Parts: sequence; C-alpha cells; structure tokens
Amino acid sequence: AADPRLQGISDAIRVVPHFPKPGIMFNDITPLLLRPGVFKDAVDMFVERYRGMGIAAVAGIEARGFIFGPAIALAIGAKFIPLRKPKKLPGDVFSESYALEYGTDCLEMHVGAIEPGERAVVVDDLVATGGTLSAAIKLLERAGADVVECACVIGLPKFKVPLFFFFFFCRGQPIYS
Ligand code: PRP
Repeated sequence: AADPRLQGISDAIRVVPHFPKPGIMFNDITPLLLRPGVFKDAVDMFVERYRGMGIAAVAGIEARGFIFGPAIALAIGAKFIPLRKPKKLPGDVFSESYALEYGTDCLEMHVGAIEPGERAVVVDDLVATGGTLSAAIKLLERAGADVVECACVIGLPKFKVPLFFFFFFCRGQPIYS
C-alpha cells in the first residue's frame, strides 16, 4: 500500500500553467512549505530512506534543493553541500555545465567539500529532463564521491537519466527507476 503521507504531499504541490513561460507547467512547492505537518512528512520520508546508510553528505541543488537538503542532512547526521549556480562560491570550485531547453547552465561545488569515497545523496525539489541532476552527479564524482542516489519531491514524466536509481514522490506515489 502507498504511504498515506504521499497524498498530502501531492495535494500540497500547486501546478501553475504557463509559468514562467507559455507552455511550462510549473510545480510550486511553496504551499507545501506553508503546512508544517506536510513539510515534515516530506523531509521524514527522505530521512527514513537515508538514515543508517552511511551517507556522509547531502548535496542540495540551488535553489530549491536548499529548502529540503539541510533538514535531511541534519536529521541523518550528514554534512550539507550546496551545489550553486556560477560565481556564487568564493573558493576553488569544480564546475559542470549542462544543457537547458534553450542555452546552458552550470553548477559549482567547492573543492574539498567531499572526500574521495564518501557516500552522498543529491536532493532537489524536482526532476524534469534530469540534466541538472546529471551535472550534480558528475561534480560529486569528479571529487571522488560515491553518489548513492538522487532524491526529489516531484518527478515529471519526461526524464531519462540512465544508471541511477532515483527516488521521487510523484503524484501520490513513489517512483523507482
Ligand atoms: C528547476 C528545478 C531543478 C531543475 C530540474 O530549477 O528546481 O533544479 O529545474 O530540471 P531538469 O531535470 O530538466 O534539469 P530551475 O532551473 O528552475 O532553477 P532555480 O531553482 O534556480 O529556479
């Protein structure tokens, strides 16, 4: 049976048509954040999955991975690593560019944030094409990390990132692929 918390999580996500551009269906997590019980349910479900797995680091993707990632990291006793948009981090960085529908974007991580062999999970609010998560995985692997899994609250149907095991909460049901 599906976890009863999933329906509440799904119901608290607002889908906004044509935002920020015509044709885009924007999945807005801010209503979920306004409901502490539902916000806690979402964080708890990640924590229950990752506690006791020897996860040394939770890497959160700017910007909305910064909302869920630190709460998960603190609860499982892991460090939090922000993966940032370009030119935000002051120290030496690894950079990884990735394709967007129009143009490219880039994620950066501080050198030394993770040690070779440390186990990491990547957290974001949403996966669509998987391009952002793929860049995050590459960044962590370049530093020698062992990326165990990526976790998002929302999975949109059109994604294809091979070789990784994703954990999503999507429309009331977790999807594993
Ligand atoms: C959104 C979302 C993910 C990414 C997923 O971020 O928060 O990070 O898109 O898309 P993908 O799977 O196709 O790569 P956005 O690009 O809107 O950036 P923002 O969080 O800084 O607004």
